[in-house]
Amino acid sequence: MNQETLKELLVDQIRDLYDAEKQLVKALPKLAKAADSEELGNALRTHLAETQNHVARLEKVFKSIGAPVKGKPCKGMQGLVEEGGEAVQEKEEGPARDLAIVAGGQKVEHYEMSAYGTARALAEQLGLNEVVELLQETEDEEENADATLTQVAMKLFDSSGETEEGERAVAMGSSSSGGSAPSNRSHARKPAR
Ligand SMILES: [Fe+2]
Ligand SMILES: [Fe+2]
Repeated sequence: MNQETLKELLVDQIRDLYDAEKQLVKALPKLAKAADSEELGNALRTHLAETQNHVARLEKVFKSIGAPVKGKPCKGMQGLVEEGGEAVQEKEEGPARDLAIVAGGQKVEHYEMSAYGTARALAEQLGLNEVVELLQETEDEEENADATLTQVAMKLFDSSGETEEGERAVAMGSSSSGGSAPSNRSHARKPAR
């Protein structure tokens, strides 16, 4: 595949991510407000600050590539944000709603990890080292945010005192064995670094 086509694909992915991150800057404060657990609220607020930085990093990426700073409506993120909002509306404040927020949040993080991984792989192919670094920094923060949400979920389970170790993974839709964290990390696509 020629370099021009790869670059067009990369710009498409960056425009999609730029819109996705901007949607999250709007959505995260609402989710943080809806959280009952202080830890969940703090995790969401911390990630809001990181997400604002993700937007700024993508602006650097646009500049580095020499493309206009312009998003393209990310329908995938629109759907995830909408679903997250529904979960908040359907449930009363408390651990169940917190877990629904975690579930929605982890879907978002995995979407981002996958999208950043693909964009980074394209940038690697194009030899755009500065872009690779910028995308990698954000991808690492998305992974950390996912892991933090897993920890929050474990504490919510513990505080409810109703779930056995074996049920946890099932409850969080994880295929990982044993009582390990129900992060879906093992599913994350990891193009070569
Ligand atoms: Fe992000
Ligand atoms: Fe994120």
